[in-house]
This record gives sequence, structure tokens and C-alpha cells, in this order.
Amino acid sequence: MKRLVCELETLEKARKLRIEIEGKPLLITYFEGAAYAMSDICPHMGGKLSDGVFEDGKIVCPVHHASFDVKTGEVNERAKILFMKLPTAKAKVLPATIEGQKVYVDL
Ligand code: FES
Repeated sequence: MKRLVCELETLEKARKLRIEIEGKPLLITYFEGAAYAMSDICPHMGGKLSDGVFEDGKIVCPVHHASFDVKTGEVNERAKILFMKLPTAKAKVLPATIEGQKVYVDL
């Protein structure tokens, strides 16, 4: 079901937003003129992705620094504790669209 998540102008300024819909925390990002959505819960150990650094289309989890592609959810860098790289699953992405001045996510 397609749901309105925010105004485009708000997302363009913020570049990343945490939005909660029906109890589901989502990370909404703006990159190269498009909007992307993924679960805001890190698939590694539940870190809050929206608190991480967002750069070049990648979000870095603030807890163990796993890095995910916001377009696909693919893992760019696995989670790390000290020098150990840990198994890290892909992040869950949802379809996001910009229509007019509004951003929608398909839940
Ligand atoms: S909780 Fe996100 S990398 Fe560990």
C-alpha cells in the first residue's frame, strides 16, 4: 500500500529522515534526484541507521559501521568489532517514489 511519507522539499533539505509508519521505522533518503526507503533497523544488530552518516548513496550504521547502499540495501562494508568483520545481511529496502512535491513509500 502506497503511503505519503513527507514533502519533497523537507527530504531535499534533510537528505535523510526517520519516519515511522504503522509502527515501522523507515529511513528515507534523497540521492541524485530520487527518493529511497529502507527499514531504519540495521539488519546486523538493530542499530538506528538514520543516526548514521549518509554519503555517496551509502548509509553507515552508527553502531558497528556496516555500510549499505540505499538504492539496493546491498552491504558495501560489513559490520566491524575491533578488527573483526562480521556477517551482515542486506538491508530491507522498500519502493519509494516522488510524485509532484511529495514522497511516497510502498509498504
Ligand atoms: S548494529 Fe548496525 S552494524 Fe551492528
